Amino acid sequence: VSYVRQGEQLGLGHAVLQARDLVGDEPFAVMLGDDIIDAPVPCMKQMMNVFESYGGPVVAVQQVPRTEISAYGVIDGAPEGDTGRLYRVRDMVEKPKAEDAPSDLAIIGRYLLTPDIFDEIERTERGKGGEIQLTDGLRRLADKRPLYGYQFMGVRHDAGNKLGFLKATVEFALKREDLGGPFREYLKSLSL
Ligand code: G1P
Repeated sequence: VSYVRQGEQLGLGHAVLQARDLVGDEPFAVMLGDDIIDAPVPCMKQMMNVFESYGGPVVAVQQVPRTEISAYGVIDGAPEGDTGRLYRVRDMVEKPKAEDAPSDLAIIGRYLLTPDIFDEIERTERGKGGEIQLTDGLRRLADKRPLYGYQFMGVRHDAGNKLGFLKATVEFALKREDLGGPFREYLKSLSL
């Protein structure tokens, strides 16, 4: 494992840019650790399949209620192909107000990117929250080449908040062959 430290908190786009030299000139995955996805076929594998067919960058998206949309990057997409899961991105916006959101398709923390994103991030000004946003870099990239939003199959846990983290822990523990049985018994024994 190689790692690189983001010395200043200047946003997700800036964080990704720090990995430029490590990544080099090839496609790469960005996986945000607070988005945990439980799926029989891993989300990134599903996205790799899209990449292999379409050859362009892919971001994972999921429908979220309008009341929660302002916590996410949101795409404006035109349906592509016949799976009902793929969109060609026309535009995207970081954390819009509910009334300004172009759709209910929120970007979830899985991105399959191409190295041309780095130049776009470098040219990206500070955006929402005064940070250099990956969403804004991707928006620039989408002007230059086809970029896709893919509605993945699977359950996403938001471990970026305490309740989501706890739910993910419990659900994964219950699924484990070694721990599931005794953990279920323990939960049942609690007088809730
Ligand atoms: C980041 C991205 C946002 C995306 C989200 C997914 O935001 O900037 O576009 O929708 O991750 O979890 P954060 O949650 O880090 O504020």
